[in-house]
Amino acid sequence: MKSVSLFLAAASFAYTSAFTLPSNNNGGRTVVSLDMASAIVFGTSTGSTETIADYLKESLPEVEGPFDVETIEGSVKDFFEKYDSLIVGTPTWNTGSDTERSGTGWDEIYYGEMQEMNMQGKKVAVFGLGDQSSYAENYADASGELHDVFEALGCVMMGYTSQEGYEHEDSKAIRGDKFCGLLCDEVNQEDLSAERAEAWVAQLKAEGFFEGGSAAPAAAASPVVEVVAEPVLEFLEENSALLDEAIESHGNVGFAPHYNQKTKSTMWVSRDGRSCYYTGGSVATKASSSSP
Ligand SMILES: Cc1cc2nc3c(=O)[nH]c(=O)nc-3n(C[C@H](O)[C@H](O)[C@H](O)COP(=O)(O)O)c2cc1C
Repeated sequence: MKSVSLFLAAASFAYTSAFTLPSNNNGGRTVVSLDMASAIVFGTSTGSTETIADYLKESLPEVEGPFDVETIEGSVKDFFEKYDSLIVGTPTWNTGSDTERSGTGWDEIYYGEMQEMNMQGKKVAVFGLGDQSSYAENYADASGELHDVFEALGCVMMGYTSQEGYEHEDSKAIRGDKFCGLLCDEVNQEDLSAERAEAWVAQLKAEGFFEGGSAAPAAAASPVVEVVAEPVLEFLEENSALLDEAIESHGNVGFAPHYNQKTKSTMWVSRDGRSCYYTGGSVATKASSSSP
């Protein structure tokens, strides 16, 4: 009875997420849901990365910051852990080095204080600055390091972008065939930065970056329904079929995992942030046998 009840709770949540497309439009203006805490944090030596952070903030007034990483007071761990999603930015300096390439306060905390943080499942998007002409072989390398530090802490990395429109030859910020975030070049393509930042914010919203931070625990903790009557079983059957259809139509491709430590379950969210399903833990959903 209990497992059927749990399945019902999960299935009805998954059904809602998968088939009720959340509308973020408010009279034509896209707004960010405030059900999760987000912040912009950057490092900078000469101010260009802060310029991009300011562009991002213009499109994201609801998000906290931008904060210069060097001005964080007290515990770095406490500071970062209070956010559900983070937009983090860095320039690239120190061309000859393998690590600590930002030339900013990030380098001081990457392999020290940040390693103490519990960041599992938090959404993180990286933006980076560089000079693609003078440093064509190393364009915005340090963005790759920033990306990897957060990824290694268990964060869900989002906001990858195309390399088209840049003239670099190589970069340590490339993952697959994409940049691991938004890259800007205030030296050679200053006039493109504002529109690149705006387009990237739209991409993050479409990816669901600002949504669903607290949705998984709430769904897992749904009250147990004690009575499983005939109509309920029909409902279950119907929605299980719909879930299967949704998973099939997405081909299990492009879903990003969000692990919930409390429930030991994983919420798989589609790239557009409009569909999700669960695997593992106590939330035994129909989807678990079709995980990607
Ligand atoms: C000494 C020096 C080294 C640099 N190394 C790189 C590099 O390896 N890769 C790159 O893309 N840009 C490099 N740059 C360019 C900076 O990353 C770029 O000017 C950036 O906009 C600086 O950002 P900030 O003003 O936020 O510090 C370098 C610049 C200087 C002066």
